[in-house]
Amino acid sequence: MSYVQNNARRVVRIDQVVRETPTVTSILFRDSLCACASPGQFVMVWLLGYEEVPMSLAFINEEGLSGITVREVGDTTRAMRQLRVGDRIVIRGPFGRGFSLRSKKPLIVGGGTGIAPLRPLIRRFVTRRTRCTVVLGGASSQELIYHRWLQQLNRRRAVRYVACTEDGSVGVKGTVVDALRDMDLKNFDYLYVCGPEKMIAAVADLAQEAGVPGEASVERYIKCGVGICGSCQLGWLRVCRDGPVVPLRILRRINEFARIRRDDIGRPIPVE
Ligand SMILES: Cc1cc2nc3c(=O)[nH]c(=O)nc-3n(C[C@H](O)[C@H](O)[C@H](O)COP(=O)(O)OP(=O)(O)OC[C@H]3O[C@@H](n4cnc5c(N)ncnc54)[C@H](O)[C@@H]3O)c2cc1C
Ligand code: FES
Repeated sequence: MSYVQNNARRVVRIDQVVRETPTVTSILFRDSLCACASPGQFVMVWLLGYEEVPMSLAFINEEGLSGITVREVGDTTRAMRQLRVGDRIVIRGPFGRGFSLRSKKPLIVGGGTGIAPLRPLIRRFVTRRTRCTVVLGGASSQELIYHRWLQQLNRRRAVRYVACTEDGSVGVKGTVVDALRDMDLKNFDYLYVCGPEKMIAAVADLAQEAGVPGEASVERYIKCGVGICGSCQLGWLRVCRDGPVVPLRILRRINEFARIRRDDIGRPIPVE
């Protein structure tokens, strides 16, 4: 796939809308370039009258459909929640570096919508009959994205699924970090993680203690999406081009990671 081809704007028709949680919606469409994406890549999504925003591909060629899973946090994502089957959106991409698929004993950790880019990775491992352990965290049972799908995979023994909720309504009571502290991470050969940056950093520390390498999908403010404008700078990386999936050994060397991000005009703001 070439960047020039992927950077072309395409109008796609929405084929399916899935309400995942009260504030999270999946939007599925047909697009031949997205159908060939690697797990972990993202698209730029534009709704007329709103900002163009980056969204991870959460669905890649599932019976011909690809798509995104969107949490409502501001104007654009609120407008996305109102989308219906038959509406049209404009996309560019897929862009960026996706996950490597090197693991034989994968540990996959997602916090909140951080599970979105990990979803196609889980599917890829299931197809290869590599049984991964998926640790998913959310505030409550209602907020666990893809919970039913993961439960089904768990019942088929295609994955081992550990749900964590902060209110204890389902699974382990606490965060994914609490759940991982009770697991022997030495049983895994590779970690894949995405979620709030402080969570990624804490999970990466536990993996390092256990000697497990890995990679994380990280977010910075994306504008061009193709490595030109510098808006997404993280240390010496341009997240849109060199990420969003970055090896943990590199993230550990970047001072800004889990400390400083930048807003739409490049001002540094603390990572919460
Ligand atoms: C590579 C990547 C993949 C992402 N994947 C997903 C996903 O799968 N699902 C999901 O719900 N969200 C995802 N996001 C975050 C999503 O892009 C923002 O939530 C969205 O842009 C918010 O737009 P808004 O207008 O609704 O909110 P606003 O009120 O405009 O912004 C709310 C917050 O969203 C972030 N944000 C806004 N615009 C951008 C931008 N252009 N680039 C990066 N961050 C921005 C900022 O932190 C801002 O403080 C991803 C971000 C990146 C960088
Ligand atoms: S968003 Fe422009 S360089 Fe990454």
